[in-house]
Amino acid sequence: MYADRINALPPYLFAAIDESKSRMLAKGVDVIDLGVGDPDQPTPSHIVESMCQAVRDPATHRYPSYTGMLEFRKAAAKWCQESRDIDIDPVNQTLTLIGSKEGVAHIPLAFINPDDVVLCPDPGYPVYKIGTQFAGGEPFTMPLLEENGFLPDLDAIPADMLARAKMMFLNYPNNPTSATADGSFFKEVVEFAKDNDLIVVHDNAYSEMVYEGYKAPSFLNVNGAMEVGIELYSLSKTYNMTGWRLGFAVGNADLIKGLGKVKSNIDSGAFDAIQMAGITALTDSQQCVSDMNRIYEKRRDALLKGLQGIGLDVKPPKATFYVWAPVPNGYDSMGFSQLLLEEAGIVATPGVGFGQHGEGYIRFALTQSVDRINEAVARMEKLRL
Ligand SMILES: Cc1ncc(COP(=O)(O)O)c(C=O)c1O
Repeated sequence: MYADRINALPPYLFAAIDESKSRMLAKGVDVIDLGVGDPDQPTPSHIVESMCQAVRDPATHRYPSYTGMLEFRKAAAKWCQESRDIDIDPVNQTLTLIGSKEGVAHIPLAFINPDDVVLCPDPGYPVYKIGTQFAGGEPFTMPLLEENGFLPDLDAIPADMLARAKMMFLNYPNNPTSATADGSFFKEVVEFAKDNDLIVVHDNAYSEMVYEGYKAPSFLNVNGAMEVGIELYSLSKTYNMTGWRLGFAVGNADLIKGLGKVKSNIDSGAFDAIQMAGITALTDSQQCVSDMNRIYEKRRDALLKGLQGIGLDVKPPKATFYVWAPVPNGYDSMGFSQLLLEEAGIVATPGVGFGQHGEGYIRFALTQSVDRINEAVARMEKLRL
């Protein structure tokens, strides 16, 4: 019944976890969900207010422009200038997205022909590989290993794959490992991309979720990056707006144009009222972002203390709201997450769900209060691992 591209999708590894979670909830267990990367706090009220006003204006009720409102793209370009010191032309180098996932899923359709190879990080956000497959391309795994700081080893990519490779996805600050990359790595990537004729798509969805003064750099800050790549930004995690579906792509004008061509034939752009709320989010005070980061930092510290207390070797992440922890000896990632759920009522995501190189790890999302995290830790202590 299904098309080959659907039949070729990888097995849904979280099905067993979802099933156990439903079983536990049905039994009345007080489940602590640290699984999904979805902020628990509401969208800041000034952004909600801005949407309420915009939606009352009938001008927002019509089809939006597929490239996005120029005012939103100007706000995005200004935000890039102020937060990242990158000069972006809002007309030719900026495109509104219906969430960054949309950009990830659609960009291979614009540039990948059947049998082209796309270099995808593993562990990684699953849509890099799936978007590639939907476009008829072949994902090639770049392992993100702890000994390399969870950065890909570009020299390890085999020459035959490199010859067929046309695109590379990167994502720092990283989901799921929470690793960060600095300018020198991005510089290496730009040179590599130029030498091998690669398009670079840097997914910067966690750009603002940072701790202790860390600032996540833009890939586009590196000399020459604008010639080879684009960067995707998201309002989802930064402003607790996952449900609103808003993000933007910036970078090389030809790449932006290609992505725009796909969009103009598939979707009709993001709702104007949402883009107007997005303008408020990007141009108003950014205090709400630092307030959220302080909340996540306290949660991070509570979880880390607990995990280290039960003997897991976890380092404090500088960015993202994920804690990527090695599973205890004697477990694989699926087995340990089943144990956490069935014996402690805690949902966490098995690393293998992000690819084979995620095996041996588990991801906790900091989407519960410090009290709930402390309760989760107390339950883990009782497991006597
Ligand atoms: C690495 C990464 N990229 C992109 C997304 C998609 O974000 P959105 O479509 O909400 O902007 C996510 C969501 O979890 C993610 O983890």
